Parts: sequence; structure tokens; C-alpha cells
Amino acid sequence: MNGPAVVHADVAVIGGGVIGHSIAWEARASGRSVLLIDDQPGSGASWAAAGMLAPVSELHYQEESLLELMLESSRLWPDFAANLGRAGAGDFGYLTTPTLAVGADAADRRALMDLRAVQEANGLLVEPLTVRDARAKEPLLSPAISCALDIPADHQVDPRRLIPSLRTVLAGHQPGAGTFVDGAVNGFAVGSRATGLLWEGDRVRGVELANGGTVRAGETIVANGLQAAALEGLPAGVQLPLRPVYGDILRLRVPQHLRPLVTSTVRGLVHGVPVYIVPRQDGTVVIGATQREDALPEAGDTVAPGTAVSAGGVYQLLRDAQVLVPAVAELELIECTARARPATPDNAPLLGRVSVPDGGHVRGLIIATGFYRHGVLLAPAAAAICRNLLDGRIDPHRTALDPARFSGRHHEALQPTKETA
Ligand code: GLY
Repeated sequence: MNGPAVVHADVAVIGGGVIGHSIAWEARASGRSVLLIDDQPGSGASWAAAGMLAPVSELHYQEESLLELMLESSRLWPDFAANLGRAGAGDFGYLTTPTLAVGADAADRRALMDLRAVQEANGLLVEPLTVRDARAKEPLLSPAISCALDIPADHQVDPRRLIPSLRTVLAGHQPGAGTFVDGAVNGFAVGSRATGLLWEGDRVRGVELANGGTVRAGETIVANGLQAAALEGLPAGVQLPLRPVYGDILRLRVPQHLRPLVTSTVRGLVHGVPVYIVPRQDGTVVIGATQREDALPEAGDTVAPGTAVSAGGVYQLLRDAQVLVPAVAELELIECTARARPATPDNAPLLGRVSVPDGGHVRGLIIATGFYRHGVLLAPAAAAICRNLLDGRIDPHRTALDPARFSGRHHEALQPTKETA
């Protein structure tokens, strides 16, 4: 788009992470024209994500309603991956290898066994292994671990390959389509930042862009993570209470003589602190992830806000990973990355149409953000839920995810906070 211009689509998706791409693909598969809006697609939380598809080992106490959504999405993953494959997405690192949960000391063993009781009570399969059996599966595990549990249902995908794959299928293999060129509309993609929602009367009619352009759309889906809360023209009184939870993540190359370092994803508890080691097919491993609620000070203009890596975080990850797999010390450290996860007060996403006090909802608008630790796992469910909403189906069971659930019942929700149209 050269200068201010108006483009039209059935659906505008704001945000080019795993969630935005997945929703865009599902919308396009339904026969709708779709524009995906992002000036730096794939560079946010998705860039750091390890891609664990782990409803069982990511279960946390008192998050049973989130568990339901995680299990639903986990069940959707095989078909989502197969459909992508059939559409010509190529290899995006979807692996159904299992996860091993391991503890370092006796307290870690007790914590993992207590969690197992909750997992089992929710019908999830978690099989204790002897340390000997665990080491038969993964010979480089430390003999000093206190326990091991096999979790066959927790899998992985590589988000850094998944987004280009989704872009390929979204572009429908048209030459030149699907590339993000700054300031240009190219196929389905708009390489500009969304600044606000465009209203027409009481309904959202599209998106205003930082480059002065406008996307006019019948439906607008807000899927730009933490940035969602800063959009102008959100429905009056609706707050998207997103907070950044920063995570440091490491990538290491495994020397030939140590390959494979591990074949399962290893999730450990080391003196009460969680750590995970995710093996990739290319001979690297991803080690993560810290959780910090404080951003490090920015280093001049050399580091984008929230992407500064914590020295303490890197130390902690390497220290704890080596407790579980001592050979980690022999790997080549090739990357340290930090990003912010978009978290909500109850850790469940803000997903759906925005309800209004009279029982209806804001027309033309769907919110899909706040996926916190689970964006990659939840992508197929988010896409399916958005597709249902586009098709006019509102599922009454989804009220737990209502994007307005933290906004009280005071919002009018039919007027923009700021005139953008
Ligand atoms: N899903 C793993 C993480 O957020 O670290």
C-alpha cells in the first residue's frame, strides 16, 4: 500500500503470530477473503515459543477450565497438522514423541507425584518409570534424578517453521503472495501495524493502519498478543487486562557424538524450579523457560522493549538443565532470546465476541489474545472457535473465555472509546 489506501476483505486478522496465522488460515479455508496485518510477523512470543503441545504437563492447580480447552486443542492437533500437510505446508516439525517429567530431589518427586494425582483425577495418563527404565529410554539423563514419569500425550511442533508453513498455505502458492513487504499489500498480508479499530455506527468495520491506510472488513479479529490492549477504539469500558510474563529461552547445538541428546521432551523440576529441554530434528535443543514479571532495563536503542535476556535466567536454565542431563554442558550455545507472554488474571485466553450488558455482543469484532504459555497448543482450538463465530455460532459454554469478563458489567460496549471512523 503506497500511502493511505483502503483495502477490503471479509476478515481482517490483526497479529501475525501462531494464533493470528492459524485463525487466518481457518477463515480462509472457510472460503472467506482474509487480510493478516502485522509489520513484523512471527517476531513476538511465537519467536521464543518452544512449541510444546503439552496439556498434561502444563496442568496447573485450579486451572481445570483451561485444561478442558487445552485438551480440546490437543485433540485437534493431529487433524490440524494433517490438513496443513495436505495443503502443501511442508515439514513444520510436528512430532508426537512423548514427554518425560523428571525430578531432581525428593521434594521434586513429591511435587510431581502430587501433580500426577490431579492429572489422573482429570483422566490424564502419567506413568511412573523407574530411573533405570527412564535411562534406558534416555541414556543421557542423570543417574541422580529422583523420579521419572512418562507422558505420552504431550507432543511438540516447531513454531519457527509453523508460521512460514501457515504463510505458504495462506498464500495458496501464488507467486509473490504471502510475503510481507513494508507498506505493501501483497496477497493476504498487510505489512503495517494496526493502530485502531474502525467503527461504523455500532459495529466494527475494519482496522486503521500505522501507514495511514485502512482495511475494511466484515469481521475483525484481534490476535496481536500484548499489543491488543493498546489498540485505539476498543469497545468503551472493555479492558483487556494483559500483563507481560517474560521468558528467557536458549537454543543449543548438540555435537554429533552426543546426538540425540534426548528423544523425548524432558520437563524437569529442579529444587522446585521448572525447566524443559525440547529436542529438535535439526540436532538442536531448546531449553526454557524462565518466568519474570519484571522487564529488564532497555539497553539504549539496541534492544527492543521486553527482549533483553536475563543473565540470571540464562544461568538458571543452564544450571538446572545440567542437573537433569549433564551433557548439556558440552553443547554449543547458539542463541539466547527473551520475549513476553501475554497473560491474563486467570491465565485463560480472552477469546470470543465481546458481550454487552443486554446479552448481545459487539458486532464485527472477535478477540483472540492472552494465550500466555499455551498459544501454540491452543492455536487449532482458537482457529476453530473463531470459525464458528464467523459462521454465526456462539457456544454458550465459552463464557469462561469472554474477553469482557474482567471489565465488569459497566461497559456500554457499543461505542468506541475514541472516534476512529
Ligand atoms: N509453554 C512454555 C512456556 O511458556 O514457557
